[in-house]
Amino acid sequence: MAQRPVILSGIQPSGKLTIGHYTGALRNWVALQDSHECYFMIADLHAITVRQEPEQLRQRTLDTAALYLACGIDPQQSVLFVQSHVPEHTQLTWVLACLTGMGECQRMTQFKEKSLQHRHNVNVGLFAYPILMAADILLYQADLVPVGADQKQHLELTRNLAERFNYYYGETFRIPEPYIPPLGAKIMSLQEPTKKMSKSDPNENAVLFLTDTPEDIQRKIRKAVTDSGREIRYEEQRPGIANLIVLYHVATGKSIPEIEAEFGSAGYATFKAALAEALIEFLRPIREEYLRLRAAEDHLHNLLAEGARRARERAAHTLQLVYERVGFLKAPVLEFSGAVVSNQRG
Ligand code: TYM
Repeated sequence: MAQRPVILSGIQPSGKLTIGHYTGALRNWVALQDSHECYFMIADLHAITVRQEPEQLRQRTLDTAALYLACGIDPQQSVLFVQSHVPEHTQLTWVLACLTGMGECQRMTQFKEKSLQHRHNVNVGLFAYPILMAADILLYQADLVPVGADQKQHLELTRNLAERFNYYYGETFRIPEPYIPPLGAKIMSLQEPTKKMSKSDPNENAVLFLTDTPEDIQRKIRKAVTDSGREIRYEEQRPGIANLIVLYHVATGKSIPEIEAEFGSAGYATFKAALAEALIEFLRPIREEYLRLRAAEDHLHNLLAEGARRARERAAHTLQLVYERVGFLKAPVLEFSGAVVSNQRG
C-alpha cells in the first residue's frame, strides 16, 4: 500500500473542550483519518505553561482522550497519545530552541495575549511554547496539521524552523502545511462575537462545551448575542449571526445558502430555537459516548499506552537522525541497577 501523508495535531487538556475545538480541529481530524496516517496527541506539556492543579490535569487528560474517541477518532487507525509520554518532544524542543531567535517568539500573538492574561506568571515555557509545538509536528515528519485559525502563526514558525534546520544540517524535516477549514476555523464567543470562543472564558454563557446538557445548550443559545437587523444572512460585518449560522452548518451539515433560504426572514427567535434543537441532537451522541468511555478508565489507560508506543517509534527515529546531524556523539546504552529511587526519607 502506498504511504499515506502524515498528520499530527493536538489539543491542550487545560479545560473542558468547546464546540470551537470540534469545528477547528476534531471534526477535520475525523474527516482526514481514513486518508492519512494520523497522530493525535493530548498536549499536556503545553498545558502547564499556565498553572494547573495536578490532580485536575490528570483527570482532564483522560477527559480529553475520551472526547477524542467520542468525536470519532478511531484508535486502531490513528495513534492517540499523551505528549508527555513521548520524551522526544522535549528533547527536540531544545535543539530547535537553539535555532530560534528571541524576537521570533516575542512576535507571537498568542504569547502577547497570554502574557497579558497571566501577568503574574509570564514564564519561559509560555515564551518557548511555539518551539515545543514545532517539535511536536516535526518529530512525526507531518505533512499536514489540521488546526483552527489561531494556530496559523505557530505553523509558520514551525515551517521556518524546519527550513532553517535543513539549511544548516542537511535535509532532515518535511515542511508541514497547515489545514485550516474554510468554515469554523474561528468560532466566536456567544456573548462577545468579536472574540474567539475560549474554554477559559469566565462567562459560562459565552462558551458551548461539547459535554453541555440540553438545558445548558438551550440557555446559552437563547442568550447568545446577535447583531442589529433580523435577516438570517451570513455577513462578516454581523459576527453574532454569522457565528450562529456556522454552528447550524456544523450541527446539520446544511450549506450556508441552504440555511439562508430556510430561515431568511423567519426572525432570530425561530432560528435560535432551531439551532438549539439541532445542537442538542448533534451533541447528544457525543456526550453519551463520552460518558460511557470516560467511565472505563482502564481501557483509556491501555489505549494511551499503546498510542505512546506507536508514537515513540516514529518520534525516536526522527530524534536519532537530528542528534546525528547536529553532531552529538552516539549515546552509550546504559544499564541501571533497577534500584527504586524514592523521594521519601527513611
Ligand atoms: P488549543 O488547545 O488552544 O486548541 C486546540 C485546537 O482547537 C482549535 N480551536 C478553535 N478552532 C476554532 N474556533 C475556536 N474557538 C477554537 N478554539 C480552539 C485550535 O486552533 C487548535 O487547533 N498549541 C495548540 C495545541 C498544540 C498543537 C500542537 C496543535 C500543541 N502542539 C501541534 C497542532 C500541532 C493549542 O494550544 O491549541
